[in-house]
Amino acid sequence: MVEIPKEYKDGFKYFLGTKIDLSKKPLIPRIETEFWVKQAIEEISKKQSHCLDLFSGSGCVGVAVLKNTDSYCDFGELNEDFLEQIEINTNLSAINSLRYSILKTNIFSGISKKYDYILANPPYIAESRIKDVGLDVLAFEPKMALFSGVDGMSVIRIFLNDAKKYLNKKGVIYMEFDPQQKFEIDGLLKNNKYSNWDFSCDQFGLIRFVRIVL
Ligand SMILES: C[S@@+](CC[C@H](N)C(=O)[O-])C[C@H]1O[C@@H](n2cnc3c(N)ncnc32)[C@H](O)[C@@H]1O
Repeated sequence: MVEIPKEYKDGFKYFLGTKIDLSKKPLIPRIETEFWVKQAIEEISKKQSHCLDLFSGSGCVGVAVLKNTDSYCDFGELNEDFLEQIEINTNLSAINSLRYSILKTNIFSGISKKYDYILANPPYIAESRIKDVGLDVLAFEPKMALFSGVDGMSVIRIFLNDAKKYLNKKGVIYMEFDPQQKFEIDGLLKNNKYSNWDFSCDQFGLIRFVRIVL
């Protein structure tokens, strides 16, 4: 029998030292995400900035930014239950409501501002690789948070095509992805004429995120 994940039983998980409520059952925040968000926060904390946590889920990424910097951070998410989840988490961390907005978005539709930073953990698992996904993940975590078309790239393609319009001059994107997608992402970045980008590994030595400069 597949057991309900401990984090859903407990109802919360810590993300970079911040308590994240999981009562609406968003994706359980992963330590690979914590790894790159820590680096992003080090950069963001140098200067007050306007950030967007797109594909927010629990809101763990944006809440960590708001708790650890003086910056502003909006949240973008499609699932209405998770919009409530983000509000629960900003309240739990006692974040001043003047520092963020929670937006219902379909990728960028619903967003009308430009940002200095866009932090994105999109759904990126290939449907063709469903057999590699843990049974507990499949049974309990939201499919919409996990899968994105046969090759896992459906959301990422649109995101990288459109993101330029939502970045300020010299704006920066941090985006998480599956190691197998590096080659195609590199091609998309060339085609979309971003100025430069660096791929980096997670704590397990797997290529896991990219920092892109407009
Ligand atoms: C991989 S989860 C990331 C959650 C959280 N940011 C984290 O790192 O734990 C992706 C999130 O994107 C949301 N999502 C999926 N498709 C979307 C879309 N087209 N527009 C906006 N959000 C979407 C899902 O509901 C899910 O919450």
